[in-house]
Amino acid sequence: MTGGRAVRSIRIAVIGAAGRTGRCLIAAAATRGHEISALARHPDSIAGLPAVVNLVAGDGRDPAAVAQVIRGADAVVSAITGSNHRGTTQLTDVTRTVLAAMTATGVDRLIVTSAYPVIAHQPRLPMAVLHRVFRHAYTDAARMEELVAASRVAWTIARLNRLTNGPAIGSIITTPELIARPRAISRADVAETLVNLITDPSAERLALNISGT
Ligand SMILES: NC(=O)c1ccc[n+]([C@@H]2O[C@H](COP(=O)([O-])OP(=O)(O)OC[C@H]3O[C@@H](n4cnc5c(N)ncnc54)[C@H](OP(=O)(O)O)[C@@H]3O)[C@@H](O)[C@H]2O)c1
Repeated sequence: MTGGRAVRSIRIAVIGAAGRTGRCLIAAAATRGHEISALARHPDSIAGLPAVVNLVAGDGRDPAAVAQVIRGADAVVSAITGSNHRGTTQLTDVTRTVLAAMTATGVDRLIVTSAYPVIAHQPRLPMAVLHRVFRHAYTDAARMEELVAASRVAWTIARLNRLTNGPAIGSIITTPELIARPRAISRADVAETLVNLITDPSAERLALNISGT
């Protein structure tokens, strides 16, 4: 229950569902009675989970696989990690495929995960190191963000800080502003946040920076 209102069960299509955040997302959604339609390149770790009512093995750049996972969903969450090879367009390509499938199937709500350093320069030294090390990945992520923000769907960009595998502790910053002291956050806390954002109309058409405290 939220504010005394029952939250209805929805079907969430998850791209990158067998990743570490994807698996936390499935767990967080399942505890609220939501169903998952899952796309994963290597789906073994999520096969047979009761919440996963539709499991598609495939790449997020494959239009047929993506349409198969999105059809009939109420919302899409893309939680894939791109590559850091020079010239990579993996995040952009997957996102373009997802947006086309959403348009074709009439699904309107999208959350994509991105990385906070894509837009952040403080604290200066760690951000400068991250920009240098992950420059190709961040270039792709920035283009992905542009693609999403220019789309007609009800989007939210969730820019995450450094992720850990710790438990959900519920101490989370979610803000469109820059964060003075960005901190690591667990994938479990991110998953709870993403599930909340799906049904929060005030989060639509916003890029939100998400950090631990
Ligand atoms: N790790 C961090 O500290 C950090 C910091 C800031 C932001 N983020 C962002 O947070 C999100 C989740 O990160 P994570 O570390 O939890 O993820 P992860 O464990 O690396 O999982 C990412 C998943 O994406 C899948 N994937 C990649 N390319 C794909 C494609 N073309 N088609 C289908 N699936 C594809 C991978 O599949 P395979 O297993 O088949 O490769 C993997 O299961 C990502 O967007 C990441 O960029 C992470």
